[in-house]
Amino acid sequence: MKKIIAANWKNNGSQEFVLQYFKYLLENINLNNEIVVFPPDLYLSNSAFLIKDNKCKSPNDSESSIHIGGQTLICGSGNNALTGGTNLPMFHDNGCTYILVGHSEVRSNLKEDFKSHLKAAIKDDFQPILCVGEIESDIKIEKLIEQLGDFDDITNSNKIKRVIVAYEPVWAIGTGKTPDITDISSTHKFIKTKLSEFSSFKDKDIMVLYGGSVNLKNAKDILSAPHVDGVLIGGASLDVKEFTNICNLKI
Ligand code: PGA
Repeated sequence: MKKIIAANWKNNGSQEFVLQYFKYLLENINLNNEIVVFPPDLYLSNSAFLIKDNKCKSPNDSESSIHIGGQTLICGSGNNALTGGTNLPMFHDNGCTYILVGHSEVRSNLKEDFKSHLKAAIKDDFQPILCVGEIESDIKIEKLIEQLGDFDDITNSNKIKRVIVAYEPVWAIGTGKTPDITDISSTHKFIKTKLSEFSSFKDKDIMVLYGGSVNLKNAKDILSAPHVDGVLIGGASLDVKEFTNICNLKI
C-alpha cells in the first residue's frame, strides 16, 4: 500500500520558491507513494497550476498522486464577513483536496476550533488530516484519548473513504528529537484501535502518519515501522531534494 508523504511548508516560500520546488519535484519524483504538499495559502493557486500543467497529475483528480492541501481553515464553509478569513470553497477553487486540521501551532496560536473545522472539511468533500499529539516528552496516552474522543460522531461520516490522522508529539516538532520507533508504532496502533472503536472505519481505512523532525536520515526507519502509514514533514520538506528523496523511498 502506498504511504502518504506530506510536506507542510508552514509560513515559508515565495513565488520563485514555488516554481523551482515543483519543477524539481515533478522532474524527479517516482510516485511510489502518495504526495500531499501544503503551501501557504497565497501560493496554493500557483502550486496547483504547476501540478495540473504537468502531464500526469491534476490536483482535483482523485487518481492523481500529487495533491495540494490547505494548512489551516480560518472560517468554515461559506462566505461571511470575517476580515482575513479563508473558507473551504476558496481552498477548493485553488486546487486543494486536502486540509490540515488541528495542527498544534494553529491550536495554540490561532485557538483553532478544530472540531467544527473537521466537520466542515468533511461536509465540503475535503480529505482532512487531523493532527493529534501530546505535549510532554513521555507518551501521554490519556491526552490522546481525550483528543480522539471528540471525534466519535465525525468519524462515522460516509463522506470520506478513509480517516487520516497525523500523530505529532509537540515536543518533537522542529526540535530534531523523535520518539523511539517502537513508541511511534505502539501509539499509531493505539490511535487505530481507538478510532475503530469510536467509528465505523476499519483498521485498513484508518491511516496514521507520523510528524515531528522527520528527515531523510530517519524517514526510512519511521516509514518501515508497523502501523506507520506515512509522514508529515515540516522543516525538511523545504529542501526539495531531501523531500523528493523521501518521497522516492521504497518501503
Ligand atoms: P517538523 O514539523 O518536521 O519541522 O518537525 C512537522 C510539523 O509541524 O508538521
